[in-house]
Order: sequence, then C-alpha cells, then structure tokens
Amino acid sequence: MLGAQRLMGRKRRLDRHERVMVTELDSDGIGLAEADGFKLRVRGALPGEQVSVRVLRRRRKQLEGQAEVLWQPHVDRVPPPCPWTARCGACVLQHLAPASQRDLKRAHLAALLAAEGVVGPARWLPDVTGPVTGYRHKARLGVRCVPGRGALIGFREPASSRVADVDACRILAPAVGEHLADLKRLIGSLDTAAAVPQLEMACGDDDAAIVLRHLEPLSATDRERLLQHAAKSGWQLYLQPGGPETVHRLWPEHGSEYLHYGLPEFDLRFAFHPLDFIQINPAVNRRMVSLAVDLLSPRTTDRVLDLFCGIGNFTLPLASRAAAVTGVEGSAELVLRAQDNAMANAAALGGSSVKFVVADLYAGDFDVRTLPAADLLLLDPPRSGAENIARDIASMAPRRVVYVSCHPATLARDARLFAEGGYMLTTAGILDMFPHTAHVESIAVFEPG
Ligand SMILES: C[S@@+](CC[C@H](N)C(=O)[O-])C[C@H]1O[C@@H](n2cnc3c(N)ncnc32)[C@H](O)[C@@H]1O
Repeated sequence: MLGAQRLMGRKRRLDRHERVMVTELDSDGIGLAEADGFKLRVRGALPGEQVSVRVLRRRRKQLEGQAEVLWQPHVDRVPPPCPWTARCGACVLQHLAPASQRDLKRAHLAALLAAEGVVGPARWLPDVTGPVTGYRHKARLGVRCVPGRGALIGFREPASSRVADVDACRILAPAVGEHLADLKRLIGSLDTAAAVPQLEMACGDDDAAIVLRHLEPLSATDRERLLQHAAKSGWQLYLQPGGPETVHRLWPEHGSEYLHYGLPEFDLRFAFHPLDFIQINPAVNRRMVSLAVDLLSPRTTDRVLDLFCGIGNFTLPLASRAAAVTGVEGSAELVLRAQDNAMANAAALGGSSVKFVVADLYAGDFDVRTLPAADLLLLDPPRSGAENIARDIASMAPRRVVYVSCHPATLARDARLFAEGGYMLTTAGILDMFPHTAHVESIAVFEPG
C-alpha cells in the first residue's frame, strides 16, 4: 500500500507543469528553481525568468524539467543560432546574448571566489572574446548506428548519453561542422558502421583531420570508401583500431603527420598531432597568450616556469621575452612535440634558453622544490587545478603568478591556498573560449601581498 502511494506521489510530480521563477544557473548552465519544496532544474531557462516547466524526471531529491512557456523572459534572451538546439545538449546558453553569457560566467567565478573567502580581485579585465560560431577546432564526437536511420554523429542529447541527431554543428570549425551530414552518410555506408563509437576532429589554421575509432577490423571496401571520401574532402584521415598508440594515418599516404597553428604576434608556428592537447579556440588562444605574457611582463633577465605546458603554447611566447623558460608537462609525447616546436621556432626565440621537463605534477610525492627556481610562474592546469603548487607557493616565491583555468571551482580553491601562502588575487578575467556552453575559462593574477 505504502509502495503504491509512493508511486502515485512520484507520478504526480512528473509530467505536469509548474510555473516557477528561476533564480540562478548551476555549473552545467541549467536554471534552478523551487517547486513543491523540491529543487527543480530547468533546461532552457535563465536567471530572473518566470517560466512554465514540464517536469520530466526526478533524480534523488531533485526534479528536472524543460522550460515550455516564458512568462517573463530575460532581457538578453535571443533566438538560438542553432536549429538543433532542442536535440543537442552541447550549447546550453545559446538562447542568451554572448555578452550576457560572459556576465553570468564572471558572476559565477566571483561567487565561487567569495564562497572560498578570497579577497579580490581588485581589477576585472575586459573579457577576452572571439567568434561565437565556428570556433571549435578540436572535439570528440559520438557516433551511433540506428537501424533505419543510419549513423548519427554529434555531441550528446540534453541530459542523456545518447548521440544527438544533427546534420551540422554551428560551433565546430566549418571545415568539419558544416559537413556532418556527409560524414553521417559515409559512416552509415560502412560494413563496420556499428563498430564505430566515436570520431575526433582537429583543425589547424589551414588543415583538418578526422580520427575514426573502430572496434572491429575494417573491410577492404570500407577502407576504399574512406580513402575516396578523404581524398575528396581534403581532411587527413586517421584510424584508431585500439588505444591511442594504435592511431595511424590512412590518407594522405605521404607528407607531414602534423597540423599547424600560428601565433603571429610572436612569429611562432606550432605543429601538433590530431590527438594532442591544443586550446580549442584559436582566436581566443591568440588573445589569451598575448594577455598572459603581458600580465606576467617578463624582463629580459627573468627565469620563467610554465607548468602544464602541453606543446609549448605559452612556453615559446614567454621565451621570446624572458632569459630562460622551463615548461613542465606530464605527457612525454607532448614534451617531445614541445621540443620540436622550440627547435623549429629557434629564430623567433633569439638566444633565450628553453627547456622542457616531463613530470607528474599531481603525484602525491611531487615536491615543488625539484622545479628550477623562477621569477615568474605560469600555470594552466586541467580541471582538477593545481592544489599542490598553490599550497607550496611560498617556497617557490615567484614575483608574480598567472593562472589560466578551465574550471572556476578549482581556481577559487587554489586562490584561497595562494592567499594562505601570502599571494593575493589582484586581477581576473573571463576568456570566452567556449561560447554558448557552460564551460568557464578564466585567467587570474596572484602577487605577494
Ligand atoms: C589545459 S592543458 C594546457 C596545455 C598548454 N598550456 C596549452 O596552452 O596548450 C593542461 C595540460 O596539463 C597536462 N597534464 C595533465 N595531467 C598532468 C600531470 N599530472 N602532470 C603534468 N601535466 C599534466 C596535460 O597533458 C595538458 O597538456
């Protein structure tokens, strides 16, 4: 009896409409409201909006729903630029004007800093912006074969792990994003279509590559179909039959296996493999690197440390200004690429010393005192941040720290640790690396207080 009552209560709460006021966005870009004493997550709604929500599911003590009628829309609400917005969960903020998206991201970072008790920043930088469509030069897309519908390729559906059914993507670089329908037809035509779970796309300034993961060997006909399509599209085509070490190029047969992007302000050109980490938004990357170098302001006598350096994206621009730069990176493969990039760009680096070191900066026994002494420090960690570096900042004693962050919660935590070590947050800003999505990229400066 009790079970039946519970079930009825649960049903009553689902598939009905609630009129609510959305108070804020969560870190996934979903509106938050309250209904019936329950927290309600509302897709498609913005802070300050009064909306009717269709309640679709309950997860633990939380209801989830979709905004259906807007009684009081946000003043900066705009029509979503993408026609597949209802099917694809990647761009959760595209119904808000880009400047307001950035205002929300800045407010989110400020709130996280305040919640950690961090004082500052005294100065907010102007947002670093770039194009809001066609900006994404690197992405992993899901692939799924659906009987009767062929192959689907895209990001995931809202609140689901299912691959979204779209024919184009407005945020991907047009060289690939405008050709998803072709790619769907190609993959749907393969004998092994059902064994293709994902593909990765990577674009350089002038070239593009696709890496196709396949869980079964390709037939001779499949290889031929792929070769013909690659030759027609001009994309480099890589196959990945197993782990990352199995990636190999199918087309073209000859020539460099690398893509390239430039940082013209520094007269630098970087080579990277399609699976290497690169900053996904080249326009924002150019401005971000320039800003980071300005904020750090190396003197010609300075020694600089660039932690989590990847292929040398910040290391080489810094080397063109400072006496010596050491880049530290966990991936030996990326360090090799960084060394090659340093050699290929030797002319732009003048006589500066550039070194790269492989080290696991998250290892429990990692000791910052093993790092070379530095006057200035640049950090660009993954989402988990740089807790151990922030905790030991006093023993490193740099004159200034520039921290580039892809996760505001860990930046806020690390800002508190920096403060405990005597380094104050003086300056911060939003980098619009991922327009329309909930991702918040930011930059912060710390100096001894
Ligand atoms: C956000 S990326 C930044 C890369 C580079 N600064 C750039 O601008 O292209 C973070 C980097 O941290 C590296 N990384 C991840 N875990 C690491 C670890 N445990 N120790 C050192 N580096 C690590 C990744 O390989 C990646 O290159």
